[in-house]
Amino acid sequence: WIRPPSCKPAKTANGTNSKTGDTQMSTVIKNGTIVTADLTYKADVLIEGGKITQIGQDLSGAEVLDATGCFVMPGGIDPHTHLEMPFMGTYSTDDFESGTRAALSGGTTMVVDFALPSPGQGLLDALKMWDNKAGRANCDYSYHMAVTWWGEQVFDEMKTVVQDRGINTFKHFMAYKGALMVQDDEMFASFQRLAELGAIAMVHAENGDVVADLSARLLAEGNTGPEAHAYSRPPQVEGEATNRAIMIADMAGVPLYVVHTSCEESHEAIRRARQQGKRVWGEPLIQHLTLDESEYFNQDWDHAARRVMSPPFRNKQHQDSLWAGLMSGSLSVVATDHCAFTTEQKRYGVGDFTKIPNGTGGLEDRMPMLWTYGVGTGRLTPNEFVAVTSTNIAKILNCYPKKGAVLVGADADLVVWDPEKTKTITAGTQQSAIDYNVFEGKEVKGLPRFTLTRGYVAVHDGEVRTKEGHGEFVAREANTSVNKALSSWKELTNPRPVERSGIPASGV
Ligand code: URP
Ligand code: ZN
Ligand code: ZN
Ligand code: ZN
Repeated sequence: WIRPPSCKPAKTANGTNSKTGDTQMSTVIKNGTIVTADLTYKADVLIEGGKITQIGQDLSGAEVLDATGCFVMPGGIDPHTHLEMPFMGTYSTDDFESGTRAALSGGTTMVVDFALPSPGQGLLDALKMWDNKAGRANCDYSYHMAVTWWGEQVFDEMKTVVQDRGINTFKHFMAYKGALMVQDDEMFASFQRLAELGAIAMVHAENGDVVADLSARLLAEGNTGPEAHAYSRPPQVEGEATNRAIMIADMAGVPLYVVHTSCEESHEAIRRARQQGKRVWGEPLIQHLTLDESEYFNQDWDHAARRVMSPPFRNKQHQDSLWAGLMSGSLSVVATDHCAFTTEQKRYGVGDFTKIPNGTGGLEDRMPMLWTYGVGTGRLTPNEFVAVTSTNIAKILNCYPKKGAVLVGADADLVVWDPEKTKTITAGTQQSAIDYNVFEGKEVKGLPRFTLTRGYVAVHDGEVRTKEGHGEFVAREANTSVNKALSSWKELTNPRPVERSGIPASGV
């Protein structure tokens, strides 16, 4: 993997982290059962210098972590966060410090945040801003680049972003008209550029024109409350945009990753595309899997507004569709889209639902909630849990097996998971900096006993001991095996002239 120019080698030969000055002694995880995306077996894990150096029986190390009764799994990777994101006139409240502390507390050891250029701002300039914010991260992180406008500068800088900065994923907003939204011609141009650079296109798939129209009509009719947010973004706007993005990506010859897939209409488009051999992935969120639209009809304005996000929560049929997608493999990854606003920030939208900052939290709760409602109910096996919370996305993003694996040589980003440990989720004890939790009152069974970030024990017997600035940037090379396969196929099936021996004279 390649390191961006701004990121100095963080580790010296003696295992000292040059950023934080820690020296890491050897650590051994004993008596646990290793669970990966494809294997379950009993073994100890030895960690030295932040990496896994041995997996086997009767290993010893300076520090011993007892994993009796626990599963030793790759730490979670949340590929969709917005930490300290400038959005809708404010900034999301969890920053790289509180956000990654919440992540580690819940067993997630890497986050991927979206670097968002403001209108007219260059991509490299936006990345500088994100570098400044991310220096406080407690765990490793990477970025997706957002394409929020189109022009020669964006076209040119995309190459530097991919080749020098190690970012191979670019998000396009098909919604948020007048702000982040891009048009189809811009998206097609960007997708073609990504195909050429061996990168992956991502979309926020909602028809922004229709949402704007429905929102204006709802407001005019006196529908000003948070429930109107859901009315303004029915599943059709997501299904239509997902289909459109899939077709545009297919014409451009680029793999497509659909973020926050929330409904059957969008899932159906992804499922069909995959059955047709198109390279498309879908990412449901833990919120959409476990919370439904009834939240918006709560009598309490704050309760409903705190749950305003795009796409909105859906009904049980859509939830069943998402679970089935994870079980059958038509959906690949569970994320959070963590974008946490306080109640005070949500109240910007009193009297006009379109001004409620869109976004919900979930970083600390994704793994316990998915374990409880997925593995605990029998909808997912423990191995499938590892696949959808870590390994699949590590492969898609091209940072496997550095991340997402329990293998010798991999980073020691690990979670020692206690399937018997329980808690009731409540804002009072969470790491997130906001004043509520959308999962408030949910009982979860399955929690981290230890969480390790490159060997550093950030959660120790449930106690959070994170270290600000420990996190390092994870660069990801372009031209993944999927990019290569797709470009070979496109090359083979490209339009080409028919070689003819005798061409008749022109009829003119
Ligand atoms: O409502 C949401 N999802 N807020 C975060 C920005 C985005 O669209 O992903
Ligand atoms: Zn210890
Ligand atoms: Zn989005
Ligand atoms: Zn998002």
